[in-house]
Amino acid sequence: MISIVGTGRVGASIAFLCVSHGLDDVLLVNRTKEKAIGESLDVASAIPADSKFSVRGTDNYSELVGSDIVIIAASVGVYTKDRSENIDLQVKMIKGIAEKTKQYCPSAIVLIVSNPLDVLTYYFQKTSEFPRFKVIGIASSLDTSRFRYYISETLSVPQSSISNALVLGEHGDTMVPIFSGVSVGGNPLFSMIDSRDAITENVRNYWRTLRNYKSRSQFGIAKNTFDVVNAILNKKEITIPASVVLDGEYGEQNIAMGVPVKINQNGVSEIQQIKLDDTESSSLKKSSEKIRNDINSVHE
Ligand code: 2OP
Repeated sequence: MISIVGTGRVGASIAFLCVSHGLDDVLLVNRTKEKAIGESLDVASAIPADSKFSVRGTDNYSELVGSDIVIIAASVGVYTKDRSENIDLQVKMIKGIAEKTKQYCPSAIVLIVSNPLDVLTYYFQKTSEFPRFKVIGIASSLDTSRFRYYISETLSVPQSSISNALVLGEHGDTMVPIFSGVSVGGNPLFSMIDSRDAITENVRNYWRTLRNYKSRSQFGIAKNTFDVVNAILNKKEITIPASVVLDGEYGEQNIAMGVPVKINQNGVSEIQQIKLDDTESSSLKKSSEKIRNDINSVHE
């Protein structure tokens, strides 16, 4: 069973993809029971006729029993300027959800999509004491989709011609698009652009730009989360950047940060150490410091 905690736009969009692809039974959990039931009824109309799975909504965490995957898309309120705006309340919330997850489905793989993403991934893992490779923050793959989009728009090339684009570090203003390994149509990206600044700024500000036109993003994160759920349940290995608690990788400890990982049916199987140029290494250091400062700023 796939359980989704938090059924706002993002939780509901993830539910829609999981249900409409007939991946597994889906449970929607919301503190407002009517909201959970309402979203479950809506996406239930998308169950394929040949599916053996269903969807239901609840406000009762004890129904998490039997979850193979728990996706956390809950939020205590709306932030407008910065993903860390409600950090104390979000951390309090994630700790409560971590306790419940530990109580009702201690073997589940947990995917965090709530913000501030890296800080919540860290606090969920510390509170639940789940193995660090079973608590995965999904966001750097979303940032990577945005990086590919802007390369494609800047050079007027299809995304299919772009290889090895990825974004590491914080899911926030210090995120680090990795340009040095990117090739476009077999040629280095660096031979086609004058500087990294414009694309980096656009990728970092993507969600604010989007917010100027509609409210919050939903479809990109839903697709990137669905891809991970699909890989886990259908036993297909994928390699993406995702946030995990680090234990020496990339020279970091006691933080969660976006790094390239392999994911299989058991969660993360490996963190990949990739080559970065000097600019990227120092930007990644700044990004990890930002996450560490945020973690330490929390009033528990
Ligand atoms: C996003 O990047 C706001 O974290 C959300 O779309």
